[in-house]
Amino acid sequence: MAKTEENLKAAFAGESQANRRYLAFAKKAEEEGYAQVAKLFKAAAEAETIHALNHLRIIGQIKSTLENLETAISGENFEFKEMYPSYITAAKQEGNKQAVWSFNVANEVEQIHAKLFAKAIDALKSRKPMEQVDYYVCSVCGNTVEGSPPDVCPICGAPKTKFFKPA
Ligand SMILES: [Fe+2]
Ligand SMILES: [Fe+2]
Repeated sequence: MAKTEENLKAAFAGESQANRRYLAFAKKAEEEGYAQVAKLFKAAAEAETIHALNHLRIIGQIKSTLENLETAISGENFEFKEMYPSYITAAKQEGNKQAVWSFNVANEVEQIHAKLFAKAIDALKSRKPMEQVDYYVCSVCGNTVEGSPPDVCPICGAPKTKFFKPA
């Protein structure tokens, strides 16, 4: 079972990446005028998500919402306390400015995610209903805000129009 558990984790990571890769490829295909290829990439992307979710469920990593929030926070904490700081240092040393930007904005936003998840945990633990708010996401940097989008993204400087409300 140990081997299969490792394989499920690896397959979950691979299928998750394939999903995002195919969505990026679909967007590119649309830009290049290949509408049918875009449709194919989108369909395959959906299928990879189904595979990823099957693997995740079978490993037993989808738990109660409270446990899932704790898992989410520890992931975000690891990213902004350990992973991104070391990645940023290395990218600066190598003079890769685009990578520095990409790691930096992700690093900032992961801290925001950790706070939002912590707020949700507090609400669940106190058995109070969560405040009914919409969330907006910056399409440039991923900044995630409650309520309404700011005039200018405080993380990346993008205008309000770059924010969208996830379905
Ligand atoms: Fe995050
Ligand atoms: Fe932004």
